[in-house]
Amino acid sequence: MATEKTLNDLFLDTLKDIYYAEKQILKALPMMARAAQSEEGKAGFLQHRDETQAQVERLEQVFEIIGKPARGKTCEAIQGIIAEADEIMEEFKGTIALDAGLISSAQAVEHYEIARYGTLIAWAKQLGLKDAVPLLQATLAEEEATDKKLTQIAEASANAKGKRAA
Ligand SMILES: [Fe+2]
Ligand SMILES: [Fe+2]
Repeated sequence: MATEKTLNDLFLDTLKDIYYAEKQILKALPMMARAAQSEEGKAGFLQHRDETQAQVERLEQVFEIIGKPARGKTCEAIQGIIAEADEIMEEFKGTIALDAGLISSAQAVEHYEIARYGTLIAWAKQLGLKDAVPLLQATLAEEEATDKKLTQIAEASANAKGKRAA
């Protein structure tokens, strides 16, 4: 019979998944900032890069709370989302629609993160990991704020700019 696995194992696995994902995002954001055409887009990606650095550190604190080494586990979901972002950067390079595409990729990243942190918070509460909950909530709030900001940039300028003038 397979060894019984518990919510503790799920929590650790998911923590490793998002730890890996955040580190990939840390590498992807400067590339997206370089690619972005608008100053607002560039600044937004760079600001979130700095936040992501702090998010990685928060995850390391959560690993410490549960007494496990901070280790990532390949997250195919984030690899796929970043691969699609690379595709957009390549295929829409130099076009008026590039920034709208970059924002759409960044929002896919944020939504993945929001899903993961939402789950981790629920499980941390269930497992009585009281010190982990506020750390995870702080990051979730940043991901949600980033998502909103991206929507604002898209609606205020990038989407309209990407439309060929009639
Ligand atoms: Fe993040
Ligand atoms: Fe994020």
